Parts: sequence; C-alpha cells; structure tokens
Amino acid sequence: MKKIILILLLLASTLLGDYEKDVKIPSVTFPMAQDENFKAIQRNCQWCHSHGYILNQGKQSREFWRASVVKMRDVYKAPITQQDEKIITDYLFKYYGNNKEE
Ligand code: HEC
Repeated sequence: MKKIILILLLLASTLLGDYEKDVKIPSVTFPMAQDENFKAIQRNCQWCHSHGYILNQGKQSREFWRASVVKMRDVYKAPITQQDEKIITDYLFKYYGNNKEE
C-alpha cells in the first residue's frame, strides 16, 4: 500500500511540476514580393505551409513553378483554379524566376 501511495505521489509531482524557465521560440518570417497578384498567393498558398517552402526553392524556371502549383493541386488537393494557377505561376516566375522557360 505504501509503495502505491509513493508511486502515486511521484507521478503527481511530475504531472504538476511547473516549468519555470523562459522558452523563446524564434519567429521566422518569409516576406514575399508585394504586388496586386500577391493576393492569389495569400488565397492559395499559405494555409498548408509557410512561404518558406516557396522561397527556399531559389530562382527557378517557369515550368518548375507551373509544375509546383499543379502538384499542390493534383497531389495535395489544394483547390487552385485554372485562373489562379496562371496568375501564381506568372507571379512566381516574375519574382523568383531564373529567366528560363523550361
Ligand atoms: C493543401 C495543402 C497545400 C497547399 C494549399 C499548398 N501546398 Fe505547397 N506543399 C504542400 C505539401 C504537403 C508539401 C510537401 C511537404 C513536404 O514534403 O514536407 C508542399 C511543398 C511545397 C513546395 C516544396 C517543393 C515541393 O514540391 O515539395 C513548394 C515550392 C510549394 N509547396 C509551393 C506551393 C505553392 C506555390 C502553393 C500555392 C499555389 C502551395 N504550395 C499551396 C501542401 C500544400
């Protein structure tokens, strides 16, 4: 019986223990180019992952960006319209493109 009480006390003390130290979580922002087409990125590209996924790809071809947008729609089921697919591809290629079509 004493053993059980001791075990319960030990369990309770770990469950109720306060963590006193300050925990600082770094905040990382990924600012993207601002123009009227950025709205399409906001509509379609920021509710599953951060813009870091986009910016970390570096400068890429138009085809790379088009295929990325299509992948988000076809593989991950993001509901991206054909119109937004074009707007987003043009936007990404304009600001994060390497001047190559393919
Ligand atoms: C429905 C959720 C969802 C939406 C919306 C979404 N993505 Fe993704 N995205 C993912 C997932 C899941 C991954 C893969 C994550 C992993 O592999 O760790 C990913 C990865 C990526 C990558 C990394 C390279 C790759 O192909 O894996 C890029 C670039 C990217 N997304 C761009 C976009 C863009 C641009 C948009 C807006 C058009 C967008 N995503 C919207 C789910 C989404």
